[in-house]
Amino acid sequence: YNLKMAIEQTLILIKPDGLFRKLTGLTIDRLDASGLEMVAARMVSVSDALAREHYKSLSDKPFFANLIKYIRGDFHGLKDSRVLAMVYRGEGAIAKVRLIAGATNPEQATPGTIRGSFGRITTTGQFENVIHASSDPVDAEREVKLWFKPEEILK
Ligand code: PPS
Repeated sequence: YNLKMAIEQTLILIKPDGLFRKLTGLTIDRLDASGLEMVAARMVSVSDALAREHYKSLSDKPFFANLIKYIRGDFHGLKDSRVLAMVYRGEGAIAKVRLIAGATNPEQATPGTIRGSFGRITTTGQFENVIHASSDPVDAEREVKLWFKPEEILK
């Protein structure tokens, strides 16, 4: 059968635990194997303002403060906070990347997915789930714009 899906762009962040644990190559391998195309990539030092803007819909959650610390590298002793931000494009890109990533909660993520294989919940209850992946078309568009200038994304 021929199942046509919309061409989408989605934002992926390899988070500080992913960089610290040297999972960069493995993550990109899995994303490339999906057949989707990498159209932007950049190492980003995550300011407090960028972190808060990225997670702004979660600002009233009890874990918000730690979520900001985590994405800024505070839990991984990274001198200069950084993540690898990427945009992948292709048919059904948002759902495809979410499948490769696995469930948000590493304990619920299917074994073999990035989070299911490499994510963990620390003794303080913090999710360390290796990557962020946009959850729907509205978020994806907002997040791609937040992390990249238009000219940094291949046409
Ligand atoms: S999702 O995947 O965006 O629909 O998930 P959601 O449940 O809305 O979670 C949004 C982000 O919050 C993080 N999160 C948590 N961090 C720490 N502790 C707890 N309990 C927790 N619950 C959710 C979760 O990792 C999501 O961040 P990203 O960067 O998308 O993984």
